[in-house]
Amino acid sequence: MATPVKVTVTGAAGQIGYALLFRIASGQLLGADVPVKLSLLEIPQAVKAAEGTAMELDDCAFPLLSGIEITDDPNVAFDGANVALLVGAMPRKAGMERGDLLSANGGIFKPQGQAINAHAADDIRVLVVGNPANTNALIAQQNAPDVPADRFTAMTRLDHNRALAQLAAKLQVPVTEIKNMTIWGNHSSTQYPDLFHAEVGGKIAAEQVDEAWYKETFIPTVAKRGAAIIEARGLSSAASAANAAIDHVYDWVNGTDWTSVSLPSDGSYGVAEGIISSFPCRSVGGQWEIIQGLEINEFSRQRIDASVAELTEERDAVKELGLI
Ligand code: NAI
Repeated sequence: MATPVKVTVTGAAGQIGYALLFRIASGQLLGADVPVKLSLLEIPQAVKAAEGTAMELDDCAFPLLSGIEITDDPNVAFDGANVALLVGAMPRKAGMERGDLLSANGGIFKPQGQAINAHAADDIRVLVVGNPANTNALIAQQNAPDVPADRFTAMTRLDHNRALAQLAAKLQVPVTEIKNMTIWGNHSSTQYPDLFHAEVGGKIAAEQVDEAWYKETFIPTVAKRGAAIIEARGLSSAASAANAAIDHVYDWVNGTDWTSVSLPSDGSYGVAEGIISSFPCRSVGGQWEIIQGLEINEFSRQRIDASVAELTEERDAVKELGLI
């Protein structure tokens, strides 16, 4: 058997962790012929619950699962890690100001970034799922100066998949008919799902739907889908979030022509350099590349700028807090 790939999952005892770990162990994250070793990072109070999940993983007798480690120490969890899925985060509680939220998450993502810097394998790839995902990813990335910045990504793939599903339902086509969907900006309500480059059956999507539906129904439905799931389910989206994390890493490693990824901006499309913002990306040779040369119309410009402004404010706030 090939050497197992070490996959570290933080917040392993949480909802997303429960939906994610079994799919990783079954081979869906990296490929059906790649053995994996799981490292589960939790806070001390949740280690026992993570042990319970590990018992269930054992009971699946997954042929590709070569071992499971459970720890509350980031230095152990990230030691030799090839893939890190940073899921555990501090949720916003009632009455919490943005500064408090960013500061609480800084207490998680700063030490995790430092531990990745000190201990992870040279080919480490990081996906941040825990919210506020883009800025949490920025905190981790800035605290890992020896790791190439483009190894740090945040998840906008769930938003991307939601946009595909909403458009497919509207046009009554299979999702496979839709190409070149893009989510720009922040994984928040300011995100911008772009239909001016998406194609359905080879034609621009924005030209196949009426403008009012696009602006007043589609964009808010995609951006607020998380809240709608909480309202319906009584719990936040976990299985679809786990599914998007699987899609993101699988495509990163195995290649894709076009998807949405939040990664450190190189200044493309006028997005402030360094912030972790969502772009249309392809993956070639195991690396993300921002798809270049797209024309950005006035409406898209305003939407992208608004979401990027939110990200630069978050960056300035975490800078002020001394987290980056
Ligand atoms: P959850 O509350 O069920 O689980 C979170 C887990 O993280 C808990 O078990 C907790 O003990 C653990 N945790 C907290 N601090 C930790 C630390 N320092 N180290 C290791 N583990 C730690 O939450 P759920 O539903 O699994 O969601 C996790 C995160 O994912 C949330 O921040 C949520 O907002 C976010 N999310 C992001 C999405 C995206 O599209 N980017 C979509 C859905 C959720």
